Amino acid sequence: MLRIRVLGSAAGGGFPQWNCGCRVCREAWAGNPKAKPRSQSSIGVTADGERWLLLNASPDIKTQILASPALHPRGEGRHSPIAAVFLTNGDVDHVAGLLSLREGHRFDLFATRTVIDIIETNPIFGVLSAAAVTRRPIPLDRPVDIGIGLSATAFAVPGKVPLYLEGDEVAVGEESESVVGVEIGDGTSRFIFVPGCAVVTPALRSRIKDVPLLFFDGTTFTDDEMTAAGLGWKTAARMGHVAMTGANGSIPAFSGTPIGRRVFIHINNTNPVLIDDSPERAEVAAAGWDIACDGMEIVL
Ligand code: MLT
Ligand code: MN
Ligand code: ZN
Repeated sequence: MLRIRVLGSAAGGGFPQWNCGCRVCREAWAGNPKAKPRSQSSIGVTADGERWLLLNASPDIKTQILASPALHPRGEGRHSPIAAVFLTNGDVDHVAGLLSLREGHRFDLFATRTVIDIIETNPIFGVLSAAAVTRRPIPLDRPVDIGIGLSATAFAVPGKVPLYLEGDEVAVGEESESVVGVEIGDGTSRFIFVPGCAVVTPALRSRIKDVPLLFFDGTTFTDDEMTAAGLGWKTAARMGHVAMTGANGSIPAFSGTPIGRRVFIHINNTNPVLIDDSPERAEVAAAGWDIACDGMEIVL
């Protein structure tokens, strides 16, 4: 049995974002109960109810632990149920939380060689001593034993390098070890987690087909959502995220693919689906998709 807890459901910046007064954030700042605040995306999963794997380490990890009794330390002295962390890429919103896990607790850090190298070449992550935090580079497309009754199989998805490594020219949409999706299983149950994906390809559809539960990149509702709101110049595609709707949107792209349950995660603060009674939320729900919220639990 897999117990999954959504620790955070928003994209980088969270919801509302600290410096944002877009129409969606304004609802959250105003305390509208239909626009619940959300922290930056991360998921916890356990097979034995005792030891947990985190998928990504959000900058909000401390608040997420506080809000999740299953992740509190037990007994006296130092302890944490967090036994392992898996990184799907090197983005700030997925790795910054590692810095909060620096108090000598032993855990395993799983990621592709490319992402492990990003961590290794940035001296600030040296605060995670190698004696406590074992770096475990993983291959693509092969199940890896996480060691707590869970296996993880990473697969490349179209994406790009982290924003802070972009340089002058950036290739968006390439498949590499920079961005992965991951299938987590315990031998009986399984689910797939893809918080960032630039385009839904036929190969991705067949990789995901028949999975009982999918968490997928829900960054924006439309590709031009941020530019249309006057917030910068980037489309979702340029940021490495496929929009939910539109000709190439994820909702139409997965519409014919058999998937047990579909849940959007990593939702940007500009995305109107964050407002529970918005027409966009109704449209997404009618298409069979859930919107993750912090604290959501699923047992498989
Ligand atoms: C993203 O998902 O595109 C990144 O989190 C952006 C960022 O690093 O701010
Ligand atoms: Mn992100
Ligand atoms: Zn906003």
